[in-house]
Amino acid sequence: MNKIVVLISGRGSNMENLVSSDIPGKFVLVASNNPHAGGLKRAKNMGIRTAIIDHKTYSNRQDFDLALAKKLEEYEPDLILLAGFMRVLSKQFLSRFENKVLNIHPSLLPAFPGQHSHKQAIKKGVRIHGCTVHFVTPSLDAGPIIVQSAIPVNPKDDEESLAKKVLEQEHQIYPIAVKWFLEKKLRIKDDKVFVDEDPKFSSLLLFRDT
Ligand code: GRF
Repeated sequence: MNKIVVLISGRGSNMENLVSSDIPGKFVLVASNNPHAGGLKRAKNMGIRTAIIDHKTYSNRQDFDLALAKKLEEYEPDLILLAGFMRVLSKQFLSRFENKVLNIHPSLLPAFPGQHSHKQAIKKGVRIHGCTVHFVTPSLDAGPIIVQSAIPVNPKDDEESLAKKVLEQEHQIYPIAVKWFLEKKLRIKDDKVFVDEDPKFSSLLLFRDT
């Protein structure tokens, strides 16, 4: 059975959605750097073990990453899912879990990496926005793209309405990417992801008119 760990920092809706999806694996741990993350309670309610590794109690990033890596290694995860996890993971951390860490980001990467992606999208006046699931590399929100979903941006949209529409899409595409990963359908070549070795599925774009 595939062992999956989820890292969160906040409310944990993606985590809860993943756990409730039909994924061929066992969620062995939900860990947070934020002791007050609402998702910790959600995880406990679903009977999943939780851990807090509070980054504020470490004097530097290396020490935090090392403590986190050690905690995760206790569970021998096949896959680590970042779901609203607000820390950038170092090369040292990622080298221990090579090509086993995925993230979801609320924009059509490479547009709008980092925080406040909806605000950035509105500021730039884009007509299409969305979300991306990608492999995690030490560069922020820049790893090989697995799947994206796009939504139209209407003139009346604000940060809140976009966040709501994009979150619905996040809940659709993250489980798809996780299933592909666990079914060993993903290959990375030249920093690009291929699904089932078929180039036509590379970075599959799911359009949803919401
Ligand atoms: C999501 O929009 C995710 O893409 C971003 O942070 C948000 C987390 O939401 N990285 P939740 O904690 O999964 O509800």
